[in-house]
Amino acid sequence: MATKNTKDKYILGVETTCDETSLALVKNGTDIIEEITISQAKKHAKHGGVVPELAAREHIKNLKQLAPDFFRNIKTYIPRINAVAVAAKIGLPPAVAVGESYALGLATKLQVPLLEINHVIAHIWGVWVDKDFIVKPDFPFLGLIVSGGHTILAKFETPTQYTILGQTLDDAAGETFDKVAKLLNLGYPGGPIIEKTAKQGDELAYEFPIPLKDSNDYNFSFSGLKTSVLYFVKKNKGLVPEYMQEFFVADVAASFQYTIIKALVKKVYKALKEHNLKTLVIGGGVAANQRLLDLLYQETKDLDIQIFAPHIPYAGDNASLIAGYAYNFL
Ligand code: KG4
Ligand code: ZN
Repeated sequence: MATKNTKDKYILGVETTCDETSLALVKNGTDIIEEITISQAKKHAKHGGVVPELAAREHIKNLKQLAPDFFRNIKTYIPRINAVAVAAKIGLPPAVAVGESYALGLATKLQVPLLEINHVIAHIWGVWVDKDFIVKPDFPFLGLIVSGGHTILAKFETPTQYTILGQTLDDAAGETFDKVAKLLNLGYPGGPIIEKTAKQGDELAYEFPIPLKDSNDYNFSFSGLKTSVLYFVKKNKGLVPEYMQEFFVADVAASFQYTIIKALVKKVYKALKEHNLKTLVIGGGVAANQRLLDLLYQETKDLDIQIFAPHIPYAGDNASLIAGYAYNFL
């Protein structure tokens, strides 16, 4: 049952920017009353990546399927909804458009404001909606957003006031995981498969160069890394005997993962130190990578910082992030 406290704010979130179709109702920015998320990953896997038009059609189908259950489950809260929030503008355009028009319809029907949310920045909100984090991060903090489409380092003064210190100049970290998985014939989405495959390999087996790792700024560049892995595999795979192929792939996956994570950790360390920040908050699908977290803890030991990384599924895309983060705009 909904509480009688009129100070409570309820926001209904809609997320369709990529391959997750998600609806959520979140109270006061942190308490998930209900969330239903359908992943389309399997539908896109056979194409080796997300196909935007297919994603849009699947979102329509999934919304039709999940809406009856969702609205039945939140029935008693419906009169208390203060706003509808939608992951808007950024993402795959046909997919984003489905969510935008669905959310506009809901806001019109409920006669509440429609809040258009930048879902990339909303990734930072993962630990606020993840109930495993009873204590939330203090401001200011350094935010590392590592998703399929974006890699951003930003200093957050408040939930909505932030300064971008650096970002990727080409491919995003998640995108690079996906591309390397594809060239190793490991499937989609690449991040979790690379992480799993890497566990069987030696991360020091091969050395891959990485542009901008030592640059005096906070930017990243990952497309050169993907290319050097591609050339290395093309040159060497044929020389490896059949019975060793599995080990070769595991070593390449592990060495690639170590290289990209080292590059991320190096710039995080530099930003924490130079901006004298004591808290690091991570968000986006790549934040689910355990090796990234291990190396972050290990390499920042001397800085005596606190690290907050949401658990799956709050690292990746979902409507709770959108509804939760939107609370800051009410
Ligand atoms: O944030 P997200 O769910 O969607 C976007 O907004 O893009 O991130 C998806 C990305 C994909 O590129 C996926 O391969 C990557 O996050 N990812 C991972 C892991 N889990 C998901 N990358 C590395 N390790 C993981 N465990
Ligand atoms: Zn995302």
